[in-house]
Amino acid sequence: MPPILEARDLTKTYRAGEAEVHALQGVSLAVQPGEFLALMGASGSGKTTLLQLLGGLDRPTSGEVVLDGVTVSTLDDDRATRLRREKTGFVFQAFNLVPLLSARENVGLPFLLAGRDPNGGEAAARVDEALSLVDLRSKADRRPDELAFGEQQRVAIARAIAGRPAILFADEPTGNLDYATGNEILQYLYRSCAERGQTVVLVTHDAQAGAYADRVLFLRDGRILDEIGLGRRTEHPARPLIERLALLGQ
Ligand SMILES: Nc1ncnc2c1ncn2[C@@H]1O[C@H](COP(=O)(O)OP(=O)(O)O)[C@@H](O)[C@H]1O
Ligand SMILES: [Mg+2]
Repeated sequence: MPPILEARDLTKTYRAGEAEVHALQGVSLAVQPGEFLALMGASGSGKTTLLQLLGGLDRPTSGEVVLDGVTVSTLDDDRATRLRREKTGFVFQAFNLVPLLSARENVGLPFLLAGRDPNGGEAAARVDEALSLVDLRSKADRRPDELAFGEQQRVAIARAIAGRPAILFADEPTGNLDYATGNEILQYLYRSCAERGQTVVLVTHDAQAGAYADRVLFLRDGRILDEIGLGRRTEHPARPLIERLALLGQ
């Protein structure tokens, strides 16, 4: 199968006045449909920058991103935005829910923004299906402040996958959560992948989180230093990954 996402020799240089930061220095990768990929590395290694380029939230200084067969860099801003809305879902460390809307309304928001009625027909069915995947059907009418933090992040996951995006991107989705709740969130990301074939790209500095992935790319100073194949498993012990990372000097 052709990859669902490809990066070809990506570089990103940030300019801050006179100073230049070479955040990415030639990154190439390919993600297969249905794969759960983790991008790991220390703080400042370029993980978020890479995720933003892969997801079309920012443009590379050089190189190309090909998303579901479309070269993103050849698109103008409007078409790039449309492609991003159709093909990608995002989950961030901060849950970014709308406080005044119920869980169901938050999950339906992307449909509303695309001009579709989230309460009717196929859109409503997809909202329900996404809420079911994160086990929140029974709390669908609660507002974010009536939900625990982990439940709020589960709403964010449901919102990101309801439109069945080609790729779900998650940037440190457990960063604001305690260990047990963080593992729950990772279990739901894994479930989206295992049960409905969702392609997932997870950014994390945490081996416990990376251990949920099929494959881990390890970044250092804006380059991919190594690749660690873990394979699809139903259990996700961190230890084998921690041992591999130790060999890399991490
Ligand atoms: N908007 C920006 N302007 C200037 N430098 C930035 C910007 N965003 C990130 N950087 C720098 O780029 C490097 C990579 O950052 P980032 O991609 O956020 O890494 P990570 O997510 O792995 O912590 C760091 O040195 C960071 O300070
Ligand atoms: Mg980051």
